Formats: sequence, structure tokens, C-alpha cells
Amino acid sequence: MALTQETILQTLKSIQDPDLHKDIVTLGFIKDVKIEGGAVGLTIELTTPACPVKDQMKSEAEALVGALPGVTSVAVNMTAQVRARGGMTSQAIPGIRNIVAIGAGKGGVGKSTTTVNLAIALARKGARVGVIDADVYGPNLPQMLGIDIEPGHIELTADQKMIPPEAHGIKALSIGMLVPKDQAVIWRGPMLHSAVQQFMRDVAWGELDYLLVDLPPGTGDVAISLAQSVGVAGAVVVTTPQGVSVSDVRKAIGMFQKLNIPILGVVENMSYFACPHCNERTEIFGRGGGAEIAKDLKVALLGDVPIDTRVRSGGDEGAPVVVAAPESPAALAFSAIASKVAAKVSMQAMRTLRIVESD
Ligand SMILES: Nc1ncnc2c1ncn2[C@@H]1O[C@H](COP(=O)(O)OP(=O)(O)OP(=O)(O)O)[C@@H](O)[C@H]1O
Ligand SMILES: [Mg+2]
Repeated sequence: MALTQETILQTLKSIQDPDLHKDIVTLGFIKDVKIEGGAVGLTIELTTPACPVKDQMKSEAEALVGALPGVTSVAVNMTAQVRARGGMTSQAIPGIRNIVAIGAGKGGVGKSTTTVNLAIALARKGARVGVIDADVYGPNLPQMLGIDIEPGHIELTADQKMIPPEAHGIKALSIGMLVPKDQAVIWRGPMLHSAVQQFMRDVAWGELDYLLVDLPPGTGDVAISLAQSVGVAGAVVVTTPQGVSVSDVRKAIGMFQKLNIPILGVVENMSYFACPHCNERTEIFGRGGGAEIAKDLKVALLGDVPIDTRVRSGGDEGAPVVVAAPESPAALAFSAIASKVAAKVSMQAMRTLRIVESD
């Protein structure tokens, strides 16, 4: 049997994408198949560089193609092209493919911590990432990222767009950089709306695969503004097990659903104590709060993040735990959650493009 592009595609059809539930040939992931004598080269283009099974897919493809008669060598090149959600309105911002909102039912559960760690984890997997802090009442992203810019001192491009400062491989803008602290507290709905618009339109973001938005707790003003003006690929809801109130989380999820924002899943933060010396796990608040909520509310549990003093100190010192202690259980949890978020966003995009139907 002669070695042709057709035989190669046929054999690659047995590789399934675990999230999209289709084979990688049907999904259109195979590009640039080259055959020169017995040497085969091809590219697999995934929908996110943060794909958790990237390496596995590569070795499966190498093994399958390598086993075809006549093949002497295989070179599989892995790339990614993050797709935008097809359902976004025409007002969506050019260059920004997916906006992901990070919300919570109540304050202090680790929303900002989750936002910065997920963002950096995605960037470390090869994605282009930005974060904004839409929390006018207590902006803290700049501090968590070690960015120190006085309000009103952001650099501008020639056409007067704000240049977002960069830290740890991500671009970050905070409302704290736009307005003096003492003025922020009087902001109300319409002003929030215009601030969100400014973040989206008057900022030189460049090309971004993911823009993560740290939503303010409480009212849905910012979420409403985002949903109406730019479209949101999905929302991540952060909760803690301590005094877990299903009703708080349900409220947050209900708001996103009303706005037609897909729920990507729930993160249970401060889930258990991971000893920084021996990594032993202590379930201080009992276990399974996040899992129960996820089951009750029929949403995915994206992962559990332990309580670790390195998470707090990292945030205080401007070096989030995925940078400061990348091998710690908390950092590994954030990294795994980042991959899941990326996979869920891909699924949403493929669904709106009608390439896949549903879970
Ligand atoms: N897994 C964790 N382990 C230890 N400390 C944590 C963890 N997650 C968050 N913290 C700490 O808890 C505090 C609250 O976290 P964070 O500021 O991220 O919450 P938030 O939900 O954004 O709060 P707010 O509602 O005030 O915006 C911070 O001091 C942070 O460093
Ligand atoms: Mg916060």
C-alpha cells in the first residue's frame, strides 16, 4: 500500500480530542502533511496551547504514523490557534479572542488570586494573556503582580491608547491605574460601564488569546456591561468550602446565566491545607463543598486549590504562587485549572462555530 496523505489522515482519525469528543482529523486539526520518501511531517493545530493532552496527542500521532508501512521517520509539530467565540457581537474588540470573567458569590474568596494565577499559568503554556481588574472598590491586581503605577501615569501610544504594563508574561490593567483611590468609591453603574468600555477600546492590548476579567463582588454591573458590549466566552466562579453557601454561588451562577454567559465551572479555593514542608493534606473545613455545589448546580468542578501561605505571600509580594513556587500543590492546581478553562473555552468556541454540538 502506497504511503499517501489519505492513509495518514485515516490512521490519525483514531485520535480523539477528549473535550470536543471528535477525532482530530474531522476537527480540522491536521495541517501541512508532507511525505518525502519514508519521512512524514505534519502539524497538529490545537484550539489552545494550554491543552492538557498536548504531549500525549503528539506521541500518539507519532506512534500511529510511525507504524504505517514504508514510514521511516515522523516529525509532528504541535501548534495552537485559539478561536474566538462565534457568537460575539460585531462590537467585540479586534485582537481579543476570548474574554473570561472570574466571579464569586461573595468577597474575599480568592477571586483576584485565582485570576492572576490562572492568567500566568495560561501564559506559561504559550497563550497570549491579559488581565483586567474591574473591581473599582478594591483594585488589587497591580499589587499582586508587582506592578506599581501611579493613577494617571500609564504610557500612551501615538494614537492615545493606553499601553498595559506587563508582568510575569501577562499584560495587566487595573482600574486603580485609571482613577485616584479616593474617587473610585463614588463610582456607580453608568460610570462603571464607561470604565469597562475604556478598558476594552482605549487600550493597546494587541493580540490576546484570553483576557481575564476579575469581577467585583456583589452587583452584576460590570458583568452586565461586558455581556452587552463585548461578549464573554465564559465565567469561572470561585468559592471556598468554609461556610460554603450554595445560595451565594447559585446567585452568581444565576446572574451569569441570565446574561447568557456560559459557566465554565467552579473553583474551590482554600479547599484544604497543604503542608509547605511535606505537602501532607489536611481537610480543615471538611471536604467536597465545591464538588457538591458543582453537582447541585450542574456545573463542572474545575479543581481544588489548597490553603498555602505561599499563595498569600506570593500575592503580597507581587510574585504569584505559580511563579514563586511552581511545584507547590497550589501552583499545580492553578495550572491544571488553567488547562481546563482553556479546554472549556475551546469547546464554547467550537460549539458556537457549530463544529461540535455539546458535551
Ligand atoms: N489558596 C490560598 N491560600 C492562602 N491564602 C489565600 C489563598 N487564596 C487567597 N488567599 C489570600 O486570601 C486573601 C483574599 O484573596 P483575594 O484578594 O484573591 O480574594 P478576592 O475574592 O479577590 O477578594 P475581594 O472580594 O476583596 O476582591 C488574600 O490575602 C490572598 O492572598
Ligand atoms: Mg479581589
